[in-house]
Amino acid sequence: TTLTFDTSKLKDFVRDYELAMMQPMVTTADKMLREGTGAGSEYSDWLHLPSNYDRKEFARIQKAAKQIQSDSKVLVVIGIGGSYLGARAATDFLNDYFSNMYPEDQREFPQVLFAGNSISPQYLNSLIKVIGDRDFSVNIISKSGTTTEPAIAFRIFKAMLEKKYGQAGARQRIYATTDAKRGALKSLADAEGYEEFVVPDGVGGRFSVLTAVGLLPIAASGADIEQLMAGAAAGEAAYASADLNENLAYQYAAYRNILYRKGYTTELLINYEPTLVQFGEWWKQLQGESEGKDGKGIFPATGNFSTDLHSFGQYIQDGRRNLFETLVRVTEPLSDVVIPEADADDGLAYLEDKTMSYVNRRASEGTMLAHVDGGVPNMIVELDQQNEFALGQMIYFFEAAVAISGYLNGINPFDQPGVEGYKRNMFGLLGKPGYEELTTELESRL
Ligand code: PA5
Repeated sequence: TTLTFDTSKLKDFVRDYELAMMQPMVTTADKMLREGTGAGSEYSDWLHLPSNYDRKEFARIQKAAKQIQSDSKVLVVIGIGGSYLGARAATDFLNDYFSNMYPEDQREFPQVLFAGNSISPQYLNSLIKVIGDRDFSVNIISKSGTTTEPAIAFRIFKAMLEKKYGQAGARQRIYATTDAKRGALKSLADAEGYEEFVVPDGVGGRFSVLTAVGLLPIAASGADIEQLMAGAAAGEAAYASADLNENLAYQYAAYRNILYRKGYTTELLINYEPTLVQFGEWWKQLQGESEGKDGKGIFPATGNFSTDLHSFGQYIQDGRRNLFETLVRVTEPLSDVVIPEADADDGLAYLEDKTMSYVNRRASEGTMLAHVDGGVPNMIVELDQQNEFALGQMIYFFEAAVAISGYLNGINPFDQPGVEGYKRNMFGLLGKPGYEELTTELESRL
C-alpha cells in the first residue's frame, strides 16, 4: 500500500480497548458525514471529489498549464489560506527543493511563485524584482473574490501585465479561479474575459486543493495531476468504511480524540524532509480551522526535524506534557547521498559509506523513542514514495480524518466563524465604507 499508519508507539498512553470503545461514536460520525446529517454538511463535496470531478474543467486545467509552460517563465499564484496552501504544499513536495531557483537553462517548467498571502510590501517588491523582465502569467485564486491580501496583489500584477503585454495580451495571461456565480473577482473575470476556473460551492477553502484551486498551479509546475487525483481516489476507496479496524484515517481521528481527552491538547505534525514543510502549513489550516472552535480543539503545530530538534526540541522532550506527535515520513527518498570517505578524522568514520537517508531514518527512530520515553505519544503516517499518487492519498487521509475528528469532538468541522473577526477589525481600521462605527470604536481603543 501507498500509505501506512503505525500506532505501535501509543501503547504506553492508550489501553488496548480504548480504540474499540470509540467505534460507536465513529460509526455515528461517519453516518453524519456520509448521509449529510452533520453540521456543515453543505461543505462536504470534497468527500467524493476524487471520483466525481468535472472532467471537462480538468482538461481545461491541463491545457491552461501547457499554455503557461509554453509562454511563461514564471507563474505568479495569488491567493491566501485555503486558496494557496494546498498548491504550495504540493509544488514543494513534488519538485526538487530548490527547483524554483535553478538557473533558467536547467528548468523545464516555469517557476511557481506565490503572492497575496501576506500584506508585506517588501515581499511584493522582492517578487517583482525576481520576475524581472521575464515572461509571466498570473493565477488569481479567491473563492469569495473579495479577500484583501490577494486583491491588493492582483491589482499590482494585473497592472504590470497590462503594461508589458497591453490589455488584450494581459487577458491571455490571467487565469481566475473563483466562485461559479458570485463575487467581485467573478464579475471582473467575466468583464475582462479571463479564462475562469471554479471553486465548487460545496468545497471549503481548506478542502479545495483537489479542485482548480490547487490543480492549475500544481500542473503548471510540471507535476502529474492525473496521478494526484488517482491517489486521492485510492484514498476515497481506502477510507470509506466506518470500521475502525479497516479505516486508517478514522483510526487516526479516533486516537487523536482519545489523546485529546487525556489532556494532550497540542499536536505536532513532524517531518524530516524540507519538501514537507509546506505540507505542514496546509495541515495546520486544515486542522486548526476545522477543529478550533467553541472553546475546544487540538492546537495544530509543526516540527521540522532535525532542524527544530536543535531549537524547541528541549520543550518537546521535557516541557509541559500536553503534546503528541504525528510523524509524516517517506520510505524512499527522492534522491540520496552516500557519506564519503575522508582522510582527516572528523569523528564520522562510523558513518562512511552509509546514506544520508539511513542517518535521517535512524534520527527519526531515535527521536521518536526519546519523545515517547519523555511522555509524548507518537503516531506515524508513512508514504512509500514521494510522488503525486502518494500525496493524493495522504491529502484525502487527513481530510477524512479531520471531518470525523471534528464530529467526535462535537463541533462543525466545515465552518470558520472565527476567521471573520480580524477581517472586520481590519476593514474598520482601514476605513472601508460601511464600517464607520467600528472605525470610531476601534480607534478609541488603540
Ligand atoms: O478557509 C478559509 O476560509 C480561508 O483560509 C480562505 O481560504 C482564505 O481567507 C481565502 O479566501 P478566498 O478564497 O475567499 O479569498
